[in-house]
Amino acid sequence: MPLAPFKDLLAAARRAGSAVAAFSVYDAESLVGVLRAAAGRPLIVLISSQVVAEPGGDLVVAGMLAMAERAPSPVALQLDHARDLDVIAAGCELGLGAVMADGSGLPYDENVAFVLAARALAAPRGIAVEAELGHLAGEEEVALAVDPGPLTDPAAAERFARETGADCLAVAIGNVHGIYRGAPHLDLEHLRAIAARVAVPLSLHGGSGLAASAVAGAVAGGMTKVNFNTELRQAYLARTADELPGARDGARLLALHRAQADAVAAVAAERFAVLSA
Ligand code: 13P
Repeated sequence: MPLAPFKDLLAAARRAGSAVAAFSVYDAESLVGVLRAAAGRPLIVLISSQVVAEPGGDLVVAGMLAMAERAPSPVALQLDHARDLDVIAAGCELGLGAVMADGSGLPYDENVAFVLAARALAAPRGIAVEAELGHLAGEEEVALAVDPGPLTDPAAAERFARETGADCLAVAIGNVHGIYRGAPHLDLEHLRAIAARVAVPLSLHGGSGLAASAVAGAVAGGMTKVNFNTELRQAYLARTADELPGARDGARLLALHRAQADAVAAVAAERFAVLSA
């Protein structure tokens, strides 16, 4: 089916009181895994800015777009965590449905200016823009154990959403990218205070490592999109390590690829079960 508009997926989830699952993929195997786990349910496929920047990244993204169009699920593809307007322009050029303009490491005014510049590139093509206020601890591509940083201020979030015109806002409520060093604790009271003031859908980054009950609580508290990455990479790599010796015997590359897709599908299926419960 044709790719789904990012904003429509979020609007439908919000009406249903649920959230859209967003999964990071790096190759055909991980994309096959998440599409299979979706089994017709809507999803967002996150493409790392570093994938786009890799040699041949444009071809990889073109392949992912073609795969997603053949899926039985409504799918939107989003460029994740772009901190540079050139990468955002490249993501728009490639035909992605949404970009995340991550200026969360910048001072407030520069973050606003960055998101406005990203919108100037994206909006005329009908491409949605997600922004972030309140910088999340941790890295996207290297999973380190970290503690959460300061929470997003609700009044600042309201102002930021208004001033940027972002279509979706990522906020910090105790979430981290990568690995939670201690037991994760999402501040749902704080989330409700943000949700009461921000009209656009809110996005929870750092879904990996959160208990199903924590994800469900965050959705009930106002999150409309939940991002998962690290736990998919961990499952993919663990299964790769397990299967590699057998695959090397006879150079069984397809068997290895099937196992990688299965590993990703198993993790994604658990998250779909929580988000569509
Ligand atoms: P995790 O890697 O912690 O699941 O975070 C994913 C994410 O937020 C991608 O933007």
